Amino acid sequence: MPDFPGSFNQLIFTFSSHQLTYLTNSLTDSLIHHMATTKLTVLSNGSLRVEGSEIELVDAQGNAYGLGGRERISICRCGLSANKPFCDGSHKGHFEHDATAFDLPTPGTAPAKPTTPPAAPDQPLG
Ligand code: FES
Repeated sequence: MPDFPGSFNQLIFTFSSHQLTYLTNSLTDSLIHHMATTKLTVLSNGSLRVEGSEIELVDAQGNAYGLGGRERISICRCGLSANKPFCDGSHKGHFEHDATAFDLPTPGTAPAKPTTPPAAPDQPLG
């Protein structure tokens, strides 16, 4: 057993294995719930909205952008913003994309091929 501070060792020995399993599962659930609180919304004809209590946005070198404690930011996806990577509203009237969700193929599988209608015959079939 690793040598934890006395009070932590007492805490470990106080719990039964069932209680430890419950505690571990509760902590895992809390962590998953906490991690799932970031939401990205693809806006039609506009930006990518990011909402969450702990947003971290970094540049290509891994340096963090200062977000001033914001819990909601909009990322430019039209390429027209003068304040990239943030949206500055320049997309309005200049960017069209209908944001409708779809399923990506399973990783490692070939993407679905588009179906093309059969070519019309040159001569009428007699
Ligand atoms: S998406 Fe808003 S300026 Fe590009």
